[in-house]
Amino acid sequence: MFLLRFFCDLHLQYTLLFCYTRFRGARFCDAPVQVIWIPYYCFSASLRRFIVLIDQVMDFAESMISEQEVVKDNLGPRKPRLLLAASGSVAAIKFGHLLHSFSDWAEIKAVVTKSSLHFIDKASIPKGVVIYTDEEEWSSWKKIGDNVLHIELRKWADVMVIAPLSANTLGKIAGGLCDNLLTCVVRAWDFNKPLFVAPAMNTYMWNNPFTTRHLDAISELGISVVPPITKRLACGDYGNGAMAEPSVIYSTVMLAVDSRAQTNGNIVL
Ligand SMILES: Cc1cc2nc3c(=O)[nH]c(=O)nc-3n(C[C@H](O)[C@H](O)[C@H](O)COP(=O)(O)O)c2cc1C
Repeated sequence: MFLLRFFCDLHLQYTLLFCYTRFRGARFCDAPVQVIWIPYYCFSASLRRFIVLIDQVMDFAESMISEQEVVKDNLGPRKPRLLLAASGSVAAIKFGHLLHSFSDWAEIKAVVTKSSLHFIDKASIPKGVVIYTDEEEWSSWKKIGDNVLHIELRKWADVMVIAPLSANTLGKIAGGLCDNLLTCVVRAWDFNKPLFVAPAMNTYMWNNPFTTRHLDAISELGISVVPPITKRLACGDYGNGAMAEPSVIYSTVMLAVDSRAQTNGNIVL
């Protein structure tokens, strides 16, 4: 390309020379001018056309390469984008552990409710994981045209996991209520993308008829439940309702998402 441009510059110089020759009194049809200038002009004109062609070919090649890169970004190498959320169950003390379990496999953002903050030890959160609360939902919006956090998170995430899921948040999701960041993300969720919940509550709450109704409602939406387990609960009672172990939640989500990606031709989701 450098050489071609050099020849074009040469053409410019030669044109100046031609003007100078005319200025000195030589005519266009004078033999030296005719012999040198006409073939040179023809040559340089086709050269310019050739350069334009080369430029077009190079533009096309560049656009093909960038298109391929975009396609590659949507394929296997990208980690799934996981939105991990916690609500106000005592099992939120394991939230840091859960984040660590997923951190190699996924790119993570976290959403927590106000009540869950009573149980989450901030020191247990892995470095680099951003935790969003209701405060950020409001402080990040100042005027019309600003991003709305729950919509941005909903667009960003490939998969959402709510662990622990409190009885309260379960009821709100089942009824379509959205009065905080977490439930707003769920209310805006695209149910073609996977959403998992790991309920955690006292046995009395778990066995309450509301729980069955609410679980039926969220199952209809396509939300997957990682069921609770039976053990001695934080309150001292023994029974069902404790959150599944973080390792079980991790393997359930990871296997489901990876197998889904494989059937989708290695596209993340
Ligand atoms: C000490 C304590 C422990 C609690 N543990 C649970 C629990 O394990 N599961 C649950 O569903 N609710 C539990 N609750 C009640 C919830 O924190 C309460 O319903 C709260 O409003 C939930 O808010 P959220 O769903 O917005 O996070 C507990 C409350 C307290 C004070």
